[in-house]
Amino acid sequence: MSRSAHPAGPRHADVLPEGHYAPPPADLNALDPRVWARTVTRNKAGAITVGGRGATDLAAEFGTPAYFLDESDFRARCRAWRDAFGPDADVFYAGKAFLSRAVVRWLTEEGLNLDVCSGGELATALGAGMPAERIALHGNNKSVEEITRAVEEGVGRIVVDSFQEIVRVAHIAERLGKRQRVQIRVTVGVEAHTHEFIATAHEDQKFGLALAGGQAAEAVRRALKLDGLELVGIHSHIGSQIFDMAGFEVSARRVVQLLAEVRDEHGVELPEIDLGGGLGIAYTPEDDPREPREIAAALRDIVTRECAAAGLTVPRISVEPGRAIVGPTAFTLYEVGTVKELPGLRTYVSVDGGMSDNIRTALYDAEYSVALASRTSTAEPVLVRVVGKHCESGDIVVRNAFLPADVAPGDLLAVPATGAYCRSMASNYNHALRPPVVAVREDGEARVIVRRETEEDLLRLDVG
Ligand code: LLP
Repeated sequence: MSRSAHPAGPRHADVLPEGHYAPPPADLNALDPRVWARTVTRNKAGAITVGGRGATDLAAEFGTPAYFLDESDFRARCRAWRDAFGPDADVFYAGKAFLSRAVVRWLTEEGLNLDVCSGGELATALGAGMPAERIALHGNNKSVEEITRAVEEGVGRIVVDSFQEIVRVAHIAERLGKRQRVQIRVTVGVEAHTHEFIATAHEDQKFGLALAGGQAAEAVRRALKLDGLELVGIHSHIGSQIFDMAGFEVSARRVVQLLAEVRDEHGVELPEIDLGGGLGIAYTPEDDPREPREIAAALRDIVTRECAAAGLTVPRISVEPGRAIVGPTAFTLYEVGTVKELPGLRTYVSVDGGMSDNIRTALYDAEYSVALASRTSTAEPVLVRVVGKHCESGDIVVRNAFLPADVAPGDLLAVPATGAYCRSMASNYNHALRPPVVAVREDGEARVIVRRETEEDLLRLDVG
């Protein structure tokens, strides 16, 4: 396995021999609905369109590189999650995947709650009108300022992550004359990535308090004693880009076991459990994600069954999907600058962005697909590597893909499924200007929701 093995990494990087590539698709011009946003198709001229707007026009109006986000797809996914879980559960969109004021407004309108994990995300949420009681604050090392703001504003819950934080939140709440609703983040001894999950006796990572060894039970004991805290539940998040529900089932079972232990020891039934995010999406057509309905039914079943066995009232369930809502809704549009054929190896296609707008390939060995966006082509497929313009050989956007052999400078390429963790993890490496996010509606209205950075933006922080 490569040094960059990561929860969000490729499914088979550790088992496929070097040099193995899936065969080229039968039709290079086809757009597989599994990886493209809902309204994406091709127009008569062959250009990729979103909301009926052609890639060539969009590039002319907004420039490249740019992220184009299908607003109706985003809203439809919010509704699918909300409806799947129903009125007795809560869906918290994980803002770390991608957050902007427009996104906060869509979430507010579509009835979702919001998980934030920093003061910046909290400020964005509050600034765009998300009611504080619908916000959850996360983080393994929240600052006193972040906690104070959250308590002052009256966030619905703070997910406490350490013994120190339990005391810190309690003191701040008491000082402000408040009682803060909190959940305790526990580690359940399950780690899930893509298609696998591993049950481990102990977990060597920074988040949460372990069930094994009794740290989580001790956290409950301490939290219940503090006047500034109202302990409402237990939180567990097991990983990223998960397709297999088995990890969630083990996690749910262990969290319910803790609820039963808390009832036995303290005579208190905690009313909430949160099972976190991490649900996978299709980055390539080989990925086969679960539908929200299926996920909701599986989680509800396991929690109901375990609670019945333990004689507990079924708690209110919440989940925190980020990637599964925003990931599939956007593609990145690039312009090809150079095409370099390495005889016997592959063709390198350089685009006008790279690791500054999508670090996931370099960081996690993530897999993406790519399509020629400005036209169709009948040329034969050629194995390409789509690379960026940064001064680093690891600056790869799509490691292995097929494009028509006539791909040339000036063509536009679109990389789908870049809605999550691309703009939110974008950097100014090499003083790149971070691309805009353009929301396109079903009626074709396209508007910038996060504008492109300018050289002025860059220099503003450089005080000389
Ligand atoms: N809830 C908690 C407590 C989390 O830590 C996360 C993600 C989520 C929810 C949302 O997970 P999602 O549904 O989006 O997978 N940068 C990595 C992913 C890091 C995820 C960190 N926590 C990537 O690009 O794959």
